[in-house]
Amino acid sequence: MVKKKACVFISGEGSNLRNLLKRSRDYNFPITIKLVISNNSKARGINFAKKYSIPYLIINTKLRNFENLILNNLKKNGINIICLAGYMKIISKKFLRSFKKQIINIHPSLLPKFKGLNTFKRILRKKEIKTGCTVHFVNEKLDGGRIITQKSFYIMSNFSEFELKKRTQNLEHIAYPEAIVKISRINY
Ligand code: GAR
Repeated sequence: MVKKKACVFISGEGSNLRNLLKRSRDYNFPITIKLVISNNSKARGINFAKKYSIPYLIINTKLRNFENLILNNLKKNGINIICLAGYMKIISKKFLRSFKKQIINIHPSLLPKFKGLNTFKRILRKKEIKTGCTVHFVNEKLDGGRIITQKSFYIMSNFSEFELKKRTQNLEHIAYPEAIVKISRINY
């Protein structure tokens, strides 16, 4: 199998990165992770890149040309898919126009509900009965690209924000690899 060369963008914990790194070791998993990019030098997820000996890059997004820097590194590494995994920075239109390959993202809600930040707080406040996660393509609209896969669960009345996050992330670790397999099999 010819695996796609992936770059995973992170900003924090990196639990999705860790999960994808594990999965990408499977012979039959359609991506291999060649590069990790973080906009946060303190992101704990960087440790997973180190553990798996994957090159990583910490990007200072205050630099005017930081996106060009990213693009150059993507090119250098022959990256043909970007997986956003808790990357808390909006991808600019210019970047989307320059990187013509696939960019996918995981979001902790059942999109189109609860786009943006502070999802768990807002979900609890709204007294939703169901929530979950979504893997989708990235386009110029925030959390608005075509949906690849969603997974959901029911919210019990005693769930805290912590509980919600834990359950959502457990599902994310199933949904993200599944979405990657799905887009490798179906022509989008
Ligand atoms: C995940 O829950 C992901 O859905 C969310 O950040 C978390 C990252 O966790 N992404 C967003 O909210 C994007 N808008 P991780 O660093 O442990 O993978």
